[in-house]
Amino acid sequence: MPETRPFDPFHSERLIYRAVNDEPADIAFIHSIQRDAEAQSGSSYSLLKPESIKASTEFKSHIEKCLLGALICLPATRLAEKDKETLPIGIVCLKASPPSHAHHRSSDISIDIAKEYRGQGYGGEAIRWALWYGFQMAGLHRISIGTFSFNTGAMRLYERLGFVNEGRHRESMWFNGGWHDHVVYSMLEDEWLEDQRKAGKEV
Ligand SMILES: CC(C)(COP(=O)(O)OP(=O)(O)OC[C@H]1O[C@@H](n2cnc3c(N)ncnc32)[C@H](O)[C@@H]1OP(=O)(O)O)[C@@H](O)C(=O)NCCC(=O)NCCS
Repeated sequence: MPETRPFDPFHSERLIYRAVNDEPADIAFIHSIQRDAEAQSGSSYSLLKPESIKASTEFKSHIEKCLLGALICLPATRLAEKDKETLPIGIVCLKASPPSHAHHRSSDISIDIAKEYRGQGYGGEAIRWALWYGFQMAGLHRISIGTFSFNTGAMRLYERLGFVNEGRHRESMWFNGGWHDHVVYSMLEDEWLEDQRKAGKEV
């Protein structure tokens, strides 16, 4: 008889993905990410300001309204978090389209990893999972991701993950005394399927 595996979609190799809860600890985590200037300026056109709790609470509502809005978590070790199942280290979202745009089956990824966990492969792993979720679960056709031209590490990462560089909105961002381009990447469902096949993954 073929082996039946339990279907557990909310994890990847090392990470667990869970909803944001109405708990002070989750607001505090979102606030810790949002008040980090590197995270704010790396992913948003908004004028950099000291982040208030009110703004972070509003950002929490934005996460909840996304097509997919999840906290990226590590399984908690006994030493790290005694009473909790997971330790949040980042936020990943697939933005929702308005209902009149839903037939385009398109979305955009936003991602932030907490400073102390960057550069350990977690961002790449979470983006790969969001692509799987978007194409395989949410039936998307196109997933984009963008960054600013000073974020060269993020650009290298998106190219390594197989996103196609679509071009740039030239000098669309004024930041820290200079103009910067917004660089746009995307992946289409056929490209993702091809990558999965090449990697010998079941889809
Ligand atoms: C960009 C980001 C999501 C990548 O996640 P990550 O877990 O650090 O990335 P990974 O470890 O999977 O991949 C490492 C790559 O990310 C790059 N990277 C981008 N920003 C980085 C940062 N602030 N710290 C460490 N690595 C970063 C690294 O340069 C590395 O590429 P390289 O090996 O070619 O140098 C994360 O660094 C982050 O949240 N940065 C701040 C906010 C931001 O820029 N968000 C994305 C905007 S589109």
